[in-house]
Amino acid sequence: MTGGTERSHRINRHLAEAAQARGVALALGSARTVLEDPARARTYGVRDVAPDVLLFANLGAVQLRLGVTPDDCRRLVDLLQADALFLHLNPLQEVVQPEGDTTFGGLVERIAAVARALAPTPVLVKEVGAGISAATAALLRDTGIAGIEVAGAGGTSWALIESHRGGNAGKARLGRVFADWGIPTAESIQQVRESWTDGVVIASGGIRDGIESAKALALGATAVASAFPFLAGAERSAEAVAERIGLFVDELRTACFLTRSRTVAELRHARLRRVEPTFRVQP
Ligand SMILES: Cc1cc2nc3c(=O)[nH]c(=O)nc-3n(C[C@H](O)[C@H](O)[C@H](O)COP(=O)(O)O)c2cc1C
Repeated sequence: MTGGTERSHRINRHLAEAAQARGVALALGSARTVLEDPARARTYGVRDVAPDVLLFANLGAVQLRLGVTPDDCRRLVDLLQADALFLHLNPLQEVVQPEGDTTFGGLVERIAAVARALAPTPVLVKEVGAGISAATAALLRDTGIAGIEVAGAGGTSWALIESHRGGNAGKARLGRVFADWGIPTAESIQQVRESWTDGVVIASGGIRDGIESAKALALGATAVASAFPFLAGAERSAEAVAERIGLFVDELRTACFLTRSRTVAELRHARLRRVEPTFRVQP
């Protein structure tokens, strides 16, 4: 979720130490600044504390229209010692940013070029909170990418975050009006899975506990990702992050137990039916 400054370096190391301790993957924050100034790679550097973690580098896909080349992507992955690269699609965020770039045309071919250049290193495409549709998944499926993270609506809203930056009343209003724009996560998982039956589908966007993780897996996700619940702990310590990951895992294990799923693969075959909620006790 971050990088580029000393404060974000501390956050990255807390996240990485916790990921190593708990055996989960870690996705670093967008690293355009590293391409502008390679010395900043240090603030994303976590390999020494997370030698076994599946580590993703991250870059805005729109940068591929603004001078970033497949070679730059390779350089970034090498500099950060990452195992894979996420390219994020964030048209809503960019349109709300006063300095945003909205040149999203022609990206499919450029994403395909990055996937070809980095092979066998996997390239995945993600949204940042507005979800991915079946139609977009169908376009991306043939680019050679390894998978899609849906990052659907219902969790962190970059439109809303950008609206709090101030300085441009028109853009701030746009951000508020579009705060909940997008395909809800549960819907996006199903749309992407329907149009790409054998691709990696990572569920994210508002996943806040192990029960929601279990539901996302039962809807067809290969894996689950979450950002905001770990932000406060990441400012404090690796232990705080590890503790929160532990809660997710315990809750997910309990959901597996209660649905007679011995493995996550079995959970994917659990039957999910929509019924009107009666009550929910707040934990
Ligand atoms: C503090 C923070 C920073 C984030 N930074 C990035 C980023 O650099 N690149 C990216 O693709 N997504 C980023 N995200 C978005 C999430 O990775 C993700 O797409 C998603 O919507 C899950 O968010 P949630 O669990 O917070 O709802 C960030 C989210 C948060 C909360």
